Formats: sequence, C-alpha cells, structure tokens
Amino acid sequence: MAKQIDVNNIPKHIAIIMDGNGRWAKRRMLPRLAGHKEGVEALKRVTKAGRELGVKVMSFFAFSTENWKRDSEEVNGIFDLVKKHLSENFDSFVNDNIKIVTMGDISKLPQDLYQMLLDIQEKTKNNNDFIVNIGLNYGSRAELVRAFNNLAEKNKKNITEEDLKNELYTCDLPDPDLVIRTSGEQRLSNFMLFQSAYSELYFPKIHWPDFDKKQLKKAIIEYQSRDRRFGDIKREKNK
Ligand code: FPP
Repeated sequence: MAKQIDVNNIPKHIAIIMDGNGRWAKRRMLPRLAGHKEGVEALKRVTKAGRELGVKVMSFFAFSTENWKRDSEEVNGIFDLVKKHLSENFDSFVNDNIKIVTMGDISKLPQDLYQMLLDIQEKTKNNNDFIVNIGLNYGSRAELVRAFNNLAEKNKKNITEEDLKNELYTCDLPDPDLVIRTSGEQRLSNFMLFQSAYSELYFPKIHWPDFDKKQLKKAIIEYQSRDRRFGDIKREKNK
C-alpha cells in the first residue's frame, strides 16, 4: 500500500529549482520557450497543491544571475511568462490572502516587470495565509555579497549569523525544510545556499513541466521519512 502523508509533519517551506523545461521541450521537438510555458502551468498546479496540503511558503527559482547568458529570445520569453502569470493572477493573489515576495536584484529586470513586481509585493504585503517567493535575477553568492556589503556600510562589527540572515532577501521567511530540484540534476546551482544549510534535498528525475500534485506528495512523503537531527544525535523518546 502506498504510504500516506502525515498531515502533522508538512514542511512549512518548500523551495524548488524548476529544472528540465528545455529538455522537456526538446524531447517533443518544441522550442525551449514551450517548455518554460508548460513550466508555468506546473508552477500553478504545484503552488495550488502545496497550499492545499498545508505548506506555508513556496520558493521558486525562476531566473538566475547566470541565466542572462542564454539567448535574448529565451531570456525575454521567460520575463514575458512571469509578467503574464502575475498580471493574470494579480487579483486572486490579493483576494486569496497570498503574499508575493521576490529574491534577487529585480531592479535589473525590464522596467515594466520590475514595476509590476514592486506593485504586487506592495499590494499583498499584509497577506498571510500563503507566501510565494520568486527568485528572479537571483544568485545565492550575490545575495551573500550584498548582505556583507550592507553590514559593512552599517559599520557592523562582530557579525552574527542572525545579522547576516537579516540582510538576506529571505529575512522574513523561515529556512526551507525541503529543497526539490527536478530533472535528475543533483546540485544546488547557487540557490539558497545559506538558507538550505539543514534542508532535506530531493532530486526527482521528472522534468519540471511534468511535476504535479502527485509528485509533490511523493516528495513530502520522502521528506517525512528522513531523520532531521540538525547536528544533534538521535534520541529515543522518554530518555
Ligand atoms: C530551468 O530549465 C528553468 C528556467 C531557467 C526557467 C524557469 C522559469 C519559469 C518556469 C517561469 C517562471 C514563472 C513564474 C511566474 C515565476 P532549463 O531551461 O534549464 O531546462 P534544461 O536544463 O532542460 O535546458
């Protein structure tokens, strides 16, 4: 019998590297952008499923600091898809108590997308039922360098982990409990390196456009089978 999800142990924050859109498209002899388009459909399915299952925060790696190296057609195509998704769902984010936040230097994105992202973050800032965090022009090393520069500017001495954490884009979010990277690659590729220090990692072989609620449940069941010790030793109950 298939294992069931333990509803009392749902990861609070799931972070996802949505990999494999290009390969998904190539396999179908479609342009890469068709893969990204289908990737947005997966993102919609998976955020809905996450919320239904009781996840509180979901982070998505939509565009990395390294993705600028791709053809401008693909880069602009991804930005257009993000814009389309946000504009089509703007009202439902506002009305359904969903908070949208971003990580990365969004000021370098096309102006209309940048303005839209500022606007949606402002309009949803008091929402608190579910948080969607989108990584755009995001890289973990750049985030850390920015954090250290902010601290240097404040003349901060004897810097603590807490000080550093407070300068990250994710300062208001809990660390991810579970990081998923689809398409079988087993690396983090500059994604939430500080935040994922104790995250469970899960690498399903499936390409992102094929990811769905069933896959998310599988990932959560796998997460629930892990023994999270945070550097401690395993202790038996009542001892
Ligand atoms: C990785 O697959 C995917 C990306 C670089 C882009 C993902 C972006 C989206 C799905 C759009 C996000 C939209 C919103 C609203 C946040 P890849 O192209 O590296 O795949 P490959 O490794 O198979 O070539």
